[in-house]
Amino acid sequence: MSEIIEISFVCLGNICRSPLAQGVFQDLVKREQLDDQIIVSSAGTSAWHVDDLPDQRMRQTAQSKGIQLRSRARQFQRKDFRQFDLVLAMDESNLANLEEIAPTTLPKHKLMLFRSFDPESDGNLDVPDPYYGGARGFEEVYQVVERTCPPLLDYIKANLMDSP
Ligand code: 4NP
Repeated sequence: MSEIIEISFVCLGNICRSPLAQGVFQDLVKREQLDDQIIVSSAGTSAWHVDDLPDQRMRQTAQSKGIQLRSRARQFQRKDFRQFDLVLAMDESNLANLEEIAPTTLPKHKLMLFRSFDPESDGNLDVPDPYYGGARGFEEVYQVVERTCPPLLDYIKANLMDSP
C-alpha cells in the first residue's frame, strides 16, 4: 500500500483509446476528490505518434461528453513498470507487447487488461481499435470506457489504497 497510486492506460498509438481512458478516469477521480491520491497517465506501445495530441475524432467524441483530452502521446518504456502501481492494456495485443518488455519480476497484478473490469465484456476483453473505422467506433470506445472506469476505481480503492 502507498499513499499515491500511479496508473497508466496503454494502447498502440496513444492517440485514441488510452488518452480517452486517461481523460474519463481522471474526471471520475476528480469528482470523487481522489485526484491528490491517484495520478493518471497513458502511453502507447509504439512510437508512431509521439508528442501528438489525441486524434481529432477521439477529442471530438470526448468533448461531446464534457471531457477535454489534452495529453501528448508518449511511448511506454520498460523502466516505466517501476513507476506505475497498475498498467492497464487496452487490448490483448497491447498486453502481449507490454509483457514482452516487462521485467520477469513484475508482479502479475501490476499489468492487467482494462476490459477485465468491464461488467458487460461478454468475454471480449479488447477495446476495439477505432483508428481505421468510422465515427461509430469512437462512440463505442467511449461507451466501453465510461462503464469500465467506475469498477476499475472500486478495484483500486479496495486493493491499492490505504483505507481511510
Ligand atoms: P490507439 O489507436 O492505439 O487507440 O491510439 C491507433 C492509433 C494509431 C494507429 C493505430 C491505432 N496507427 O496505425 O497509426
